[in-house]
Amino acid sequence: MQRTTSIHGRWSHRWVFILAAMGSSVGLGNIWKFPYITGENGGGTFVLIYLLCVFLIGLPLMMAEVLIGRRGRLSPVNAIALCARETSVSPRWQLLGGLGMLTGFLIFSFYSVVAAWILHYIPAMAKGVLAGAGIQQTSRYFEALLVSPERLILGHSAFVWVVMTVLALGVRRGLDRAVRIMMPALFFLLLLLLIYAANTGYFKHALVYLFHFDLAKVTPQSVLVAMGHAFFTLSLGMGAIMMYSAYMGRRDSIGRSVLWIGLLDTLIALMIGLAIFPIVFASQLDPASGPGLVFITLPVAFAQMPAGQVLGFVFFILVGLTALTSAISLMEPVTAWTVERFKVMRWQAALIWGVLAWLLGLAVLVSFETMSSLRFFSRNLFDWLNYFTSNLFLPLGGLGLAIFVGWKLSRRVTESELHLQQTWLYLAWYFAIRYLVPAALGIIFVANLYNII
Ligand code: PHE
Repeated sequence: MQRTTSIHGRWSHRWVFILAAMGSSVGLGNIWKFPYITGENGGGTFVLIYLLCVFLIGLPLMMAEVLIGRRGRLSPVNAIALCARETSVSPRWQLLGGLGMLTGFLIFSFYSVVAAWILHYIPAMAKGVLAGAGIQQTSRYFEALLVSPERLILGHSAFVWVVMTVLALGVRRGLDRAVRIMMPALFFLLLLLLIYAANTGYFKHALVYLFHFDLAKVTPQSVLVAMGHAFFTLSLGMGAIMMYSAYMGRRDSIGRSVLWIGLLDTLIALMIGLAIFPIVFASQLDPASGPGLVFITLPVAFAQMPAGQVLGFVFFILVGLTALTSAISLMEPVTAWTVERFKVMRWQAALIWGVLAWLLGLAVLVSFETMSSLRFFSRNLFDWLNYFTSNLFLPLGGLGLAIFVGWKLSRRVTESELHLQQTWLYLAWYFAIRYLVPAALGIIFVANLYNII
């Protein structure tokens, strides 16, 4: 027996699901990570590998998540259990849903810290605090900010509060409405930045940088980074997309929706690159400046260019919006699960997890105080959370899901749920989910584990 709606509600339109999934996937990964890892891994070649990973590995896994979510219509834990029961496999596979919820919660706790930095930069940009600053000043400014949790606590709390409120309002009044307002706003701001970037005179440099193909720069390491990022940016491996799919219409095409999400996420990542790099080049800065690109390098560019104050202000609002829509999807699975498991009201579930996430985030904020200089991979709580979730938990979750859907679920279930028009398309997906995805994720997981040791 298949349900047509989830007990939690349903999106108001087919496109709202796509918008919500995009909201989840377009996040700090697109703005904060994608440009700098592209910079560090040789530009265009890396972009190409990344695109291959998105389409060959990311999208098949996303289809798997969507099919479970829509079939189960519940939080990942219970949706997986339901699908497992339907094909008489052990319901213990639901542990994957548990791992996903934990991962989401942990990612959220450092996401909200980055959000607090962003919230600090929005007014700082508007006031022109950094006007005329060079790279030394902006890095000193950022380093000083990192070690003063008292200046960040308000932003952190506000961010958690907004996410909690949206979650408490539920699917239709909260999430649906939030993405319908925030996503168009995000597009609009991005477009503004792009228009500005196109007029800096350095747009062509950015195009070359992003699309110039140079095979000599491909290393096994860059392939690994590209694969890992494809999963992270598509929000796969932790059940966020699975959760959102529970609110999808029964007759909407999974294949087409997933294709849209993949295309739009990639398009936005590239647009962000095309908005950021001309600004960086126009100020003769280094595009491969690592994680500090957004908080150290770009502020220099904003500090030096005409209308930079407004531009920086708009840019950080954009970053804040992307963080917000992703953060909502990180916490929705655990919230929905709590409602299902303990039969509490939604606002109660949202409140409990909000408070817990706020506390953990606080610990992360304080963990920077002991750090003397901005070395991102020296070990503090922030780095550990980032490292473990992105590099180990997400690949592990994705690997488990691929094995579950490819090897355990019956073809009857996957075939009827995906409902692809052409048989060859189904077979291609089936091949990917059975072999390609597990192989890729297995490699990522083992390589990352090896890196730790
Ligand atoms: N996709 C988000 C990003 O690019 C991160 C994320 C991962 C969000 C997993 C939700 C779930 O930043």
